[in-house]
Amino acid sequence: MKPIKVGLLGIGTVGSGTFNVLKRNQEEITRRAGRSIEIAMVADLNIERARELTNGEVEVVNDANLVVNNPDIDIVIELIGGYGIAKDLVLKAIANGKHVVTANKALLATHGNEIFKAAQEKGVMVAFEAAVAGGIPIIKALREGLTANRIQWIAGIINGTTNFILSEMRDKGLDFNTVLKQAQALGYAEADPTFDIEGVDAAHKATIMASIAYGIPMQFDKAYVEGITKLEASDIRYAEDLGYRIKLLGITKRTPEGIELRVHPTLIPEKRLIANVEGAMNAVLVQGDAVGATLYYGKGAGAEPTASAVIADLVDITRLATADPEHRVPHLAFQPAAISDLPILPMSEIVTSYYLRMHVEDKPGVLADVTRILADLSISIDAMLQKEPGEGETRTDIIILTHQTKEKNIIAAIEKIEALATVTGSVIKLRLEELS
Ligand code: NDP
Ligand code: HSE
Repeated sequence: MKPIKVGLLGIGTVGSGTFNVLKRNQEEITRRAGRSIEIAMVADLNIERARELTNGEVEVVNDANLVVNNPDIDIVIELIGGYGIAKDLVLKAIANGKHVVTANKALLATHGNEIFKAAQEKGVMVAFEAAVAGGIPIIKALREGLTANRIQWIAGIINGTTNFILSEMRDKGLDFNTVLKQAQALGYAEADPTFDIEGVDAAHKATIMASIAYGIPMQFDKAYVEGITKLEASDIRYAEDLGYRIKLLGITKRTPEGIELRVHPTLIPEKRLIANVEGAMNAVLVQGDAVGATLYYGKGAGAEPTASAVIADLVDITRLATADPEHRVPHLAFQPAAISDLPILPMSEIVTSYYLRMHVEDKPGVLADVTRILADLSISIDAMLQKEPGEGETRTDIIILTHQTKEKNIIAAIEKIEALATVTGSVIKLRLEELS
């Protein structure tokens, strides 16, 4: 059979990894796909570097339109990133009847509904395994492996950069900016690293997972997003004293009222496997009603781990290219006519446990005032830690862990606690998940 022809848009970190792995494992991949997969054309702004990376073996152009408009190309791989030119090129490729593979979670989380609709109408596939958790086949697991289940919740370390930063800061005592630079040098970070550290990248990925777990449209605009930039070293230490690790988690839960979709630093019991995922590694916990808890672990970023997922999509498309579109795996796991309108809940309605840190006067009655406020709002206390005041100091930190409550109750409690004359400054609030 004649080779399937692929056009590669963007030969940066993931693009070059894809080119190299496809070449190195060509024979094995052909045996699996049943047909040879050949990168026939590459587009990149830096033509010289692209020629060097492809050893002059492939036609290289600097105008990506030449690839998406080339009638000989069967599959377009979009590895440029962002939602500007990348969106135009993906839509043009679809309009030209080409299948698309992309690692671009930002694009799919924000414009996925439009892209999948266009693909559906044209009868082409848009595959995106690499868009979530790098090399971990989590899309395949959610969309196919767990298809018998009603997915109840997903919680994942789905941003390698921030997990790398938290691990290096904790283990080596390095400062935030030094470790962020290392993550950039290692190819983990997004072109704009604020997407990583402010939780946006993780929220893109959580949005995609929620969509295929529950059969709902992509709704990134309704996700709650909080990164790690405001996290304080003292909270990491206090959490450890209480037996918890702090990780940036992407969380989505199905509740009777709707779907929770949120990204924030989260305390996790240190005995959980996921609490011990370090460096740029990712891990995703999925709870299904039939299977129970399942855990997926692996490299969440970097050239070849991500290439592994890109090439898996290429093979899937190659195998299914001749299948009738109605008999392929639906893009969002559920048939397009069966997409649900379950609402995404506002943050005030989500239910979780909390870590509260407050700076108080060390005198009788202070703790009683705080616990009364919590009790009045039906917030029950799970654990408490009071630090000894430093030498000559009259104020100290109190840390309280609560049982589960609605976010709006904890916000009301914090407002009242901050109004106490014995409490100084703001109450620090972090969310806690037992993940049991
Ligand atoms: P890079 O910045 O390393 O690569 C992007 C490449 O696209 C660069 O070579 C860039 O050229 C080129 N490019 C930019 N604009 C154009 C254009 N108009 N036409 C053709 N080429 C263009 O990014 P990554 O490889 O890291 O990421 C690619 C995608 O993969 C992103 O969507 C990212 O979110 C996603 N991803 C990345 C992971 C990773 O570990 N890095 C993991 C999972 C997903 P130039 O450098 O000259 O601007
Ligand atoms: N910037 C992303 C991360 C790349 O650090 O996880 C992988 O999607």
